[in-house]
Amino acid sequence: MKRGWIAVAVATVAVFGESRGAFSITVQDAQPQVAAADSVYGCVLCHADKRKAFIEGIHSERGIGCHDCHGGDPASLETSTAHTGTYIGTPDKLATVELCGSCHSDPDRMRQYGLHVGQIAEFRTSRHGQLLLGERNTDAPTCTDCHDAHTILTPDNARSRVHPANIPGTCADCHQDESLMAKYGLTTDQFELYRESAHGVGLFEGQNFASPSCVGCHGSHAALPPQVTEIANVCGQCHVLVRRAFDDGPHGVAAQAGALPGCTACHSNHQTERVPSDAIAETCLECHDAESRAAQLGVEAEELIVAAENDLQTADEAIGELVVAGWQVSDLRLRYQTALTDYLQIAEFQHSLDVEQLEDLGRRVGSISRDIRATAEVSAEQRWEHKLLLVPVWFLTLSAIVLGWFKLRSLKE
Ligand code: HEC
Ligand code: HEC
Ligand code: HEC
Ligand code: HEC
Ligand code: HEC
Ligand code: HEC
Ligand code: HEC
Ligand code: HEC
Ligand code: HEC
Repeated sequence: MKRGWIAVAVATVAVFGESRGAFSITVQDAQPQVAAADSVYGCVLCHADKRKAFIEGIHSERGIGCHDCHGGDPASLETSTAHTGTYIGTPDKLATVELCGSCHSDPDRMRQYGLHVGQIAEFRTSRHGQLLLGERNTDAPTCTDCHDAHTILTPDNARSRVHPANIPGTCADCHQDESLMAKYGLTTDQFELYRESAHGVGLFEGQNFASPSCVGCHGSHAALPPQVTEIANVCGQCHVLVRRAFDDGPHGVAAQAGALPGCTACHSNHQTERVPSDAIAETCLECHDAESRAAQLGVEAEELIVAAENDLQTADEAIGELVVAGWQVSDLRLRYQTALTDYLQIAEFQHSLDVEQLEDLGRRVGSISRDIRATAEVSAEQRWEHKLLLVPVWFLTLSAIVLGWFKLRSLKE
């Protein structure tokens, strides 16, 4: 396969090159004699339908041709001679893994592109790989189910099936297929739940690619559901501060022991959302007795966070009033930001359940909010005083008019 690589690559480019002007020029410049002599690439003359899809992909861009995967003789224009020698026809799902691996597991080939070579090793550990390679069961995906066989694009290309925004759809091709998943006793609701979750909304509507698609939690090639004791670490890859607080608290200890399914105990895995602040106490009751110290703590935490939210809201309204009254509010906005940061930390300390910290933060939010409201009240009083100050002015103006009128009348008489 490797012999004649350059000649064929150039031939490929010459044929594919029409729509890739810039690239064909650079390669032909480097190998002008070969390019002029050899410009017929048989495979794409007969398989014109594949050509169009293929030239959009990364492999064509790197000068890889049809025969690099399928074998055969690309210089031949006859089916019988083109489909000979190394020709493998259409590889099945198992052969495809080997085919892709022949380059992608070879460090000498991949180093120059900065690509790691672990995809197949990882795939072997995944449930998919176990099913396909271990049990030879073709319900499992092979490389081309997620990447396509011919239009293989880099993950950062928005049209790629493995671009973050397209991954959930790629997984859903199978995981939403009821009859397929029933065979394995798996539900088909992951995509629907995910789409509505904080992560799904962040990804699809916010275009926030830091929000995990399916592979952010499962891994792409090593796809497996996290074990109960692993969940906090999976979420903690991104929610670093929350995880630290969680580890310090009683639930972190319980999760390590497998007594609590980590973060998903309160946030769900696919339907991930904040716990609504007025439902915190209720959440604790799922596992703790209503009379317990833990349940009481839940009630306290809820009161605290609801009060902090109200404080923030009134502070925000007060700033709004000051803006209308024409006040300089940049200082107050800065203080409001501080209160907001404290409030966000309250959410963090929900995880360590450190009551003192929670109360302390709640007090700080309250105190800043009171200051801001006090400023707004002073401003309102001052506005009233301004109006009062105007009373003598109006009085004088009125007197002047009346006097003027009398004067005018006396002049007329
Ligand atoms: C003269 C036209 C012609 C040329 C040249 C040609 N093919 Fe084909 N190819 C065909 C036809 C017709 C079929 C469908 C019938 C068959 O399977 O033989 C086919 C089928 C295939 C298939 C599917 C086989 C299957 O399992 O059904 C592959 C893969 C393929 N060709 C690859 C190649 C490659 C790679 C090259 C270049 C090395 C090439 N072909 C050159 C005409 C051609
Ligand atoms: C990176 C490897 C790779 C390259 C390069 C490649 N193919 Fe394929 N091709 C595959 C695989 C794998 C399949 C098996 C079907 C699947 O997995 O979707 C396939 C399937 C086919 C088939 C039969 C199935 C179908 O979709 O009709 C034809 C015909 C074919 N390829 C032709 C071509 C031609 C022509 C080119 C060059 C333009 C080409 N291939 C380049 C990997 C490749
Ligand atoms: C003949 C060697 C070869 C074969 C066979 C091959 N690839 Fe590639 N692949 C490459 C090269 C070279 C690149 C380009 C790397 C680059 O430019 O970043 C690449 C790039 C990719 C990329 C984009 C990686 C990135 O982020 O840049 C994906 C995805 C990919 N290949 C998947 C596959 C799949 C799936 C198969 C099997 C159907 C396959 N490859 C077969 C050589 C090969
Ligand atoms: C279940 C779907 C799925 C399967 C099966 C799959 N991939 Fe991927 N692959 C992805 C996703 C998603 C990405 C995007 C990067 C990421 O999130 O890791 C990716 C990225 C890649 C890349 C780019 C470099 C990298 O690792 O990030 C290469 C190369 C690649 N895959 C090759 C393969 C090969 C070879 C196979 C077959 C052994 C394969 N993939 C099977 C989903 C899959
Ligand atoms: C070609 C179909 C197909 C595609 C595409 C696919 N899967 Fe799967 N997946 C399966 C099948 C079939 C199973 C059942 C394996 C079993 O349980 O034995 C499975 C199992 C799983 C499991 C293990 C579930 C369990 O508890 O056993 C996870 C996790 C998973 N897939 C995630 C993903 C993710 C993430 C993607 C997308 C990147 C994806 N899958 C794409 C077919 C697919
Ligand atoms: C790949 C990084 C990543 C992983 C892994 C991750 N998250 Fe997230 N999470 C985010 C990002 C980014 C957001 C913000 C999304 C947005 O709104 O744009 C978010 C949002 C959230 C929210 C909503 C927060 C809010 O203020 O509305 C909760 C709750 C959450 N994640 C919990 C979890 C849980 C539980 C897990 C593990 C099961 C997890 N996350 C795994 C990155 C991640
Ligand atoms: C925020 C992290 C996260 C995201 C995002 C995520 N999952 Fe999961 N998923 C999990 C966790 C954790 C489990 C294990 C639940 C358990 O064992 O109780 C799981 C379990 C699964 C399972 C096993 C069956 C089940 O439902 O319990 C499948 C299949 C699966 N996920 C597929 C997907 C698919 C497809 C997507 C994208 C649409 C996705 N997951 C997105 C964390 C996530
Ligand atoms: C015992 C229930 C519980 C568990 C377990 C739990 N959380 Fe929370 N989480 C909460 C509550 C309550 C809030 C605060 C809700 C609010 O602010 O209204 C919250 C808020 C959050 C937020 C949003 C606030 C912020 O700082 O962005 C994220 C993200 C989050 N949790 C992630 C996690 C992660 C990651 C884990 C696991 C390490 C986890 N949670 C475990 C109850 C829980
Ligand atoms: C999914 C079940 C679950 C939920 C929901 C839950 N806990 Fe826990 N909690 C546990 C487990 C398990 C332990 C460790 C075993 C034990 O000590 O009871 C624990 C321990 C505790 C402890 C330390 C031991 C104790 O009883 O004093 C406190 C405090 C606590 N939880 C508070 C809360 C609060 C507050 C909430 C609601 C925000 C909550 N928990 C929600 C399961 C849960």
